[in-house]
Amino acid sequence: MGGAAPEPVVDLAGVSVTFGERTVVDDVTVTVTERRLGIIGANGSGKSTLARVIGGLIAPTTGRVRVVSVDPVRDGRAARARIGFCFADPDAQIVMPTVREDVEFSLRRSGLDKAERTARATAALDRFGLAHLADAPAHRLSSGEKQLLALAATLVRSPALVICDEPTTLLDLRNSREMTAVLDTLDESLIVVSHDLDLVGALCERVLRLDDGKLTDDGPPEQVIARYRADMTAPIRTERP
Ligand SMILES: Nc1ncnc2c1ncn2[C@@H]1O[C@H](COP(=O)(O)OP(=O)(O)O)[C@@H](O)[C@H]1O
Ligand SMILES: [Mg+2]
Repeated sequence: MGGAAPEPVVDLAGVSVTFGERTVVDDVTVTVTERRLGIIGANGSGKSTLARVIGGLIAPTTGRVRVVSVDPVRDGRAARARIGFCFADPDAQIVMPTVREDVEFSLRRSGLDKAERTARATAALDRFGLAHLADAPAHRLSSGEKQLLALAATLVRSPALVICDEPTTLLDLRNSREMTAVLDTLDESLIVVSHDLDLVGALCERVLRLDDGKLTDDGPPEQVIARYRADMTAPIRTERP
């Protein structure tokens, strides 16, 4: 059978991000065709910065970025249409007074008329089990409900790729498991950045590990997570006075 190979979800070549003197993402080169990717690593290892580069929210200092067939550096508009980004803190994403209005607001530049925007928002709220909260004040929702709202407001725009940065970090165990189950229902390509290793292990087909901005491991979740756990649980040496 002929035909071109499928376009990768993410294709990075020599991507670095420097803030002042500090290199936070250091020469990352990777091609991802898997539909579900996890990015793990210690606090400050550069995960969120790399996720923002992939999401087109910041440009790399050097290197080439291609994500779902778009160069987000050159074509920000296409990147915004094709890539959705959910932040760890869902409060940062809530912009409208009620749940329904917040989801509809995501479609303000869609070119759809009001009736269609309302219909799509209603469907998104149904999909994420938020229909009963449609007219509730968005800021009054629980953390778990806010995280679902952020996901609904992202997914309603039908992105090809959804990037979730620490989607369970602010959630309790029950809500984390519910969020994991909800993310598992997505047909869209998904990147989860997390140190919730259960979440990453349950969802991802491939996992990248960052240490100090460098890509230091890459492979199947069981293996990458096991090596990461082993490194992170090594005895901590403490100096006694
Ligand atoms: N806009 C910025 N300016 C300066 N330093 C930043 C900026 N954003 C992130 N950093 C620094 O880059 C490092 C990596 O941050 P981040 O990508 O958020 O890591 P992670 O998500 O893995 O915890 C941190 O030390 C952070 O302080
Ligand atoms: Mg982070």
